[in-house]
Amino acid sequence: MIDPEDVYRRTTPSSRKLHERAVNAMPGGTTRTTTYFDPYPLYIERGEGCRIWDADGTERIDMLGNYTAMILGHSHPKVVEAISRQAARGTAFAAANPIEVELATLLCERVPSLDLVRFCNSGTEATMFAMRLARAFTGRPKIARIEGGYHGTHDYAEVSTHPILAEAGPPERPVARPDSIGTPQWILDGSVILPFNNPDAAERILREEGEQVAAVILEPIIGAGGVIAATSEFIERLRAVTVELGMLLIFDEVISLRVAPGGAQQLYGVTPDLTTMGKIIGGGLPVAAFGGRADIMELLDPRRTPNLPQGGTYNGNPLGMAAGVAAMKELTPDVYEELNRKGARVKDQLTEVFASHDLPVQVNGAGSLLAIHFTDIPVTDYRTKATANPKITHDFFLALVNHGVLMAPRAMGALSTPMGEHDIQEFVDAVDAVVTEQLPRWQANGSLRSD
Ligand SMILES: Cc1ncc(COP(=O)(O)O)c(C=O)c1O
Repeated sequence: MIDPEDVYRRTTPSSRKLHERAVNAMPGGTTRTTTYFDPYPLYIERGEGCRIWDADGTERIDMLGNYTAMILGHSHPKVVEAISRQAARGTAFAAANPIEVELATLLCERVPSLDLVRFCNSGTEATMFAMRLARAFTGRPKIARIEGGYHGTHDYAEVSTHPILAEAGPPERPVARPDSIGTPQWILDGSVILPFNNPDAAERILREEGEQVAAVILEPIIGAGGVIAATSEFIERLRAVTVELGMLLIFDEVISLRVAPGGAQQLYGVTPDLTTMGKIIGGGLPVAAFGGRADIMELLDPRRTPNLPQGGTYNGNPLGMAAGVAAMKELTPDVYEELNRKGARVKDQLTEVFASHDLPVQVNGAGSLLAIHFTDIPVTDYRTKATANPKITHDFFLALVNHGVLMAPRAMGALSTPMGEHDIQEFVDAVDAVVTEQLPRWQANGSLRSD
């Protein structure tokens, strides 16, 4: 029987050596919790198209694309050219620049809810400013958010993204739990937790909280938390209830902007008051944005007194803007459609593979996003997602790395435009090979028991 960790250790000696050095300079030898996994992270030296090469020169299919950001794959020639051209002309000035106008205009034209937009450097900042803006606009203190949704790493975001179930309260009235040590109690007191895809319970909670709530923030398609699409009923109910109760509705489309030119809001036909974006809009560089209704966004106008100041040394820096414009111009409606078609096909193929092994698995897909949940219960919210088997998930992820594919350790992935039929077939074959290899081990060591 093959232990994926043994194989991983044997085949990635350079990553192991780099990590041994890294632990002397960074806690856990890493600077990003999400790229760490046991026994040590994989060090990538180079990427091109949908392929990446690790520090030992081993090639793999990149099924994660920097957590969905690299929709065009790596080193896309148009993006490389735009970055090179701009790098030679200067990367950041304490001034406005013409390219930020271009990217801002492009986003306002594409995304239905955007009258006005502002740039920042990470999705974390985008959701932080959107929440602050909602509090400023409504004069209310609390933010309602979805259990199991992810909005980055600031204090208000690090609440109930993956609570321990025993501490999370009843499914119909979840309690706010901190995701990080160091989260102040007042953040939890200022957070209202809604169950995903349960319109009646969500409405009841919002009515109870009433004028305390400034905004409801949600990913219309939960991304990092397992690729779980909201039902239209849920989204439409939240829209109606927030209007009635004077709360703002914020769509966090940092990931879901990759499903259509106008994001998930275009697909659902529901327009939020504010939208946060990131990942794909920077063409692989750290660019994010938030925007929405003019009457709300105008609170950021420095000509107003008082206003909501939004500093940021690298906001709208020309390097990121140039990469973003180049990438977004490549993303025509046809490109989204083709990518989504491929996504739907991969989901079907994977479902067939798991069924052929008689393994209880849910393959969740939305556009070009996919997530594999090792459970026999359909995954529609955090509580159902939490039934997935963590031991199998980790084995599966590591064995897949050994078989030439990088997904997220929680078995989430995203397609990129350079992926052709043969890349996709290689991925599906690798999944098949991993299950064939690991199933006897999972059966023998009891991992398949639901305890
Ligand atoms: C929906 C969503 N919002 C916000 C963020 C935070 O973005 P960043 O990692 O750029 O801070 C993420 C990151 O994955 C995300 O998926």
